[in-house]
Amino acid sequence: MMYTYLIKPILFLLYPETVHHLVLKLLKWACSIPGGKSILRSCYQVKHPLLHTRVFGLDFPSPVGLAAGFDKNAEHYNELEVFGFSFIEIGTVTPKGQPGNPKPRSFRLPSDRALINRMGFNNMGADEVVKNLNNRGTKLIIGGNIGKNTSTPNEEAVNDYLNTFRALFEHVDYFVINVSCPNISDLSKLQDVDSLSSILSTIARERDKQVVRKPVLLKISPDLHPTHLDEIIELVPMYGIDGIVATNTTVSRENLATSQDTIREIGNGGLSGKPLQARSTEIIRYIHEKSGGAIPMIAVGGM
Ligand SMILES: Cc1cc2nc3c(=O)[nH]c(=O)nc-3n(C[C@H](O)[C@H](O)[C@H](O)COP(=O)(O)O)c2cc1C
Repeated sequence: MMYTYLIKPILFLLYPETVHHLVLKLLKWACSIPGGKSILRSCYQVKHPLLHTRVFGLDFPSPVGLAAGFDKNAEHYNELEVFGFSFIEIGTVTPKGQPGNPKPRSFRLPSDRALINRMGFNNMGADEVVKNLNNRGTKLIIGGNIGKNTSTPNEEAVNDYLNTFRALFEHVDYFVINVSCPNISDLSKLQDVDSLSSILSTIARERDKQVVRKPVLLKISPDLHPTHLDEIIELVPMYGIDGIVATNTTVSRENLATSQDTIREIGNGGLSGKPLQARSTEIIRYIHEKSGGAIPMIAVGGM
């Protein structure tokens, strides 16, 4: 009640990215107070043996995790753990740090319970993220979501994925190859069979050189054509990729309650939240049926 009628209306007066940083600062402070973490854990964490899930060779105490984009630089995972997530996907991390797109770059659509963002892979770069990953104080499973720098042309993208994979290898528990962000020009073209084959085979070869086997997943767009999706469903087992993260944000603006004028004013970006739920679920169902349940998935979309 207090959140809905008092806190949320105040927060919604502020720019979404400002609120994001403000709330994370508050959380850090609350967790630094003696007993703070225990109180938050007792409010939010649910532990039960039935929630235990073993997938990709990893043991997840619960099937609920936090999607990429919330803790891009791996600065907050030790605190976010109090909410009961059993895994957090940090990133997207690129080899070099980059500022992302100019602000404003995230927009609320309250009547649709949705967001549009065009952050553009703002992150501190692999070396800085590795420093933050050295502070792991929890058993939380960490996924490393990797991408390419905006300035790297698609023809050279494979090197960016490889370099970030190598940099993060010792520090994360699994990887997610992100080729589906709609906010980096032409990135989603890396989902085409030739480009994707090159990236997946390079990462799979590099992974096979390592003593410890770390799962590698592929994050896909909800905007893929069915024939394209079929190709991806074939490629994934071919290169020993362990699973799919479905889905990223959509470029679709269909069936929104928000006015067309507002949508036009906002401009480009990926839509997430409630309007994405049906589409991402449809993709997940399709992959499950088409692969005969052989491809494990992390379901994202609709929050
Ligand atoms: C502000 C914002 C930033 C995001 N950044 C990333 C990112 O860096 N990498 C990525 O793979 N997905 C990113 N995402 C996409 C989310 O991980 C997720 O796939 C998407 O929001 C759909 O889920 P949802 O509808 O439950 O929010 C971002 C989403 C938002 C809203």
